[in-house]
Amino acid sequence: MTSSTRNNPKQAAGEEAARLVKDGMVVGLGTGSTAAYAIKELGKHVAAGLKILGVPTSYQSAFLASENGIPLTTLDEHPVLDIDIDGADQVAGFIAIKGGGAAHTREKIVALSSRKFVVVVDESKCTGVLDHTVPLEILPFARKLVIKQVAELGGKAELRMGVNKDGPVISDNGNFIMDADFGTIDDPAALAEQLSQCVGIVEHGIFTKIDAVYIGKKDGSVGITSP
Ligand code: A5P
Repeated sequence: MTSSTRNNPKQAAGEEAARLVKDGMVVGLGTGSTAAYAIKELGKHVAAGLKILGVPTSYQSAFLASENGIPLTTLDEHPVLDIDIDGADQVAGFIAIKGGGAAHTREKIVALSSRKFVVVVDESKCTGVLDHTVPLEILPFARKLVIKQVAELGGKAELRMGVNKDGPVISDNGNFIMDADFGTIDDPAALAEQLSQCVGIVEHGIFTKIDAVYIGKKDGSVGITSP
């Protein structure tokens, strides 16, 4: 465990994970408030001379990276990344649920393109079992079929509605987002496989390949776990 004087757990986790990034690396830039702390910290390192390229996982992270002076690249230019740092909605062991910000499709593509996938969370996100709703990015044309398939898996899927926007949330990829409630998820890896087979689901928010979890604590320390 490392310690610091920071007393914001998300900030502590994000900034600590940013220390993993070394000169010359291509870095996945996650989405959400915790990953934002990592991006801002990387911006400070870049201003101090660190040479990196970032691959954003959303418009949010692309804008933030640009504002903080981080040069961007694409998966076409750099299909293999050195590291990806991203937040999560809930973590149990080394499986996470992501997509609270509707960015999980690009987040998963970037995570699986990276040699090392680091999840940054505050300690309230870490639980013994997963019971958070599972975000689903779906093709609008398949909405009713997705509801049916999720019901067959024992869940209840609801369309995510916009805030300060009438109608549904539209993802950065132009699709709908649904949140599927499965109650307590006893076997998240199996559910991930089943959701991947559903027609009309572009991507689900269960992430099963995590290399390290940085857990920010209330006292400013950061616990680090890896499989
Ligand atoms: C974005 O779609 C999500 O996967 C976020 O990474 C996740 O919701 C965590 O967000 P916070 O760091 O803001 O809690």
